[in-house]
Amino acid sequence: MKKQQISFELSIFEKPEELSQIEQKLLSTAEDARENAYAPYSNFKVGAAVLLENGEIVIGNNQENASYPSGLCAERVAVFQAGAKYPGVAIKAIAITATSKDYVVDSPAAPCGNCRQSIIEYEQRQRTPISIMLRGETGPIYKCASVADILPLAFSSSFLSDS
Ligand code: THU
Repeated sequence: MKKQQISFELSIFEKPEELSQIEQKLLSTAEDARENAYAPYSNFKVGAAVLLENGEIVIGNNQENASYPSGLCAERVAVFQAGAKYPGVAIKAIAITATSKDYVVDSPAAPCGNCRQSIIEYEQRQRTPISIMLRGETGPIYKCASVADILPLAFSSSFLSDS
C-alpha cells in the first residue's frame, strides 16, 4: 500500500485592502450582488462575482424556492450566467461572500460540493485555473489558485468514455 498526501496553498488576507485592485472590485461586486439574493427560507444570502478574461464581471446570488431543492446557489447562478452570456470566454476568478439575518458570518463562506463540481467543469473546459476568493460578511479572506485545489479527485467528462 502507498499513501499520498494531497495539500494545497491557501492565501489568507486579513482585510480587503491587502488584495489587488481588481480582486477588491470583484469582492465588493459579490457583496453588492449578495444583497439581491432571494433567501426567505434560510435567511442566508450569498453573492458571487465572476471575472472573465475579457474583463467583464458577471454576478449571481442564491435564489431559493418554496420547494427547497428547486433553488440554486449563488455560484452556479453566476457561472451559468457567464456561460450563457459569454460562451467560450474563460473565467479567471470568482469571489464568494455570505451574510445571515441571524448571526454575523465572520468566517469565509465555502462553496458547496455541487458548486465546486459545476465550477470545475469550466476550469477543465478552458484548461486554465479559476482562482477562488472567499469571505463571510467580515473577517479574513481566503484565496486559492484553482478550484481543483478544493475539489481533489474530481469527477470529469473523461470518465464518460475510454478515449
Ligand atoms: N448557498 C449558496 O448560495 N452557495 C453555497 O455554496 C452554499 C449554500 C445557499 C443555498 C441556500 O439558498 C442557502 O445558501 C442556505 O443553504
